[in-house]
Amino acid sequence: MKLKLLVLITLFILVNQVKSIWTPTPGISWNYLLNVKESEILKAKEKVLTVDVNTRKEFINTLHKNGKKVICYFSGGTIEKHRDDFDQYWNTPGLIPDKDGETRFSEYWIDYRKKDLLAPLIKNRMKVAIEKNCDALEVDCLGAYNHDIVTKRWKDPLTKEDAYVFAKWLSAMAHQLGISIGLKNVAGIAPRLVNDFDFAIVESCSMSKNVCAKYEDFPKQGKVVFTIHYGDYGSFNEQVKTMVEEQKGFGYTCTFNIKDDLKQLGYGYNCDNGSKTNLGKK
Ligand SMILES: *[C@@H]1O[C@H](CO)[C@@H](O)[C@H](O)[C@H]1NC(C)=O
Repeated sequence: MKLKLLVLITLFILVNQVKSIWTPTPGISWNYLLNVKESEILKAKEKVLTVDVNTRKEFINTLHKNGKKVICYFSGGTIEKHRDDFDQYWNTPGLIPDKDGETRFSEYWIDYRKKDLLAPLIKNRMKVAIEKNCDALEVDCLGAYNHDIVTKRWKDPLTKEDAYVFAKWLSAMAHQLGISIGLKNVAGIAPRLVNDFDFAIVESCSMSKNVCAKYEDFPKQGKVVFTIHYGDYGSFNEQVKTMVEEQKGFGYTCTFNIKDDLKQLGYGYNCDNGSKTNLGKK
């Protein structure tokens, strides 16, 4: 009898471990490190780090050993020229309607309405991230409807509604594969996606009024909002007053980086009063 109970308890624990996916919670510290060298990443103090999905598995394991959680980045709405699977995207008929429409980040917008064509490619990306032991995903470039390369050049441009459908589809796929996923930018549809995403990552939201506030429901559901502003648009000191004005009171995690190339560590600051919380390094 006792043995049976023990077996049942063990099974219960095992099943729950398999099922439980990690999600970051409000208040946790974060650094955005897409193009930072490994030796520099090791100096980051924060608990949660976003790195590129191309980061080596061994290095991600090292970060875990150091007590970090790792969010892995890739672009979902565009195909970046440097990705291993670029040719697969490029050679799929209809997936890239405008092959002259290269963005300033060397990417091409994907017609993400073409779910059947896209599903195996995106699923493969997610599986690569899971295989590398990433704890969560950040899938970028959902908001084609905000970009002239799509809206002014395509015959039948992607709309806001298409972006919403694409975002929901991505979150369902990630959850089905057993990994958490953050909503990236797309403030215009963020309020409708709070239930679908596990957290949010938001760039430069204070550059327009009331954009940062679009994510306010995330913390209310115990979901963290990581924000990043960049020094390319003025120094920290020049921008901090506006950043606080737009972000205070929501319970976000606020960070700053001197340049948007993200080749160096950023640092955190208190969203409510602008005090720097650390200088990024141990
Ligand atoms: C900002 O808030 C934090 C946390 O409440 C506090 O420790 C810090 O001293 C404050 N800084 C300023 C400049 O008020």
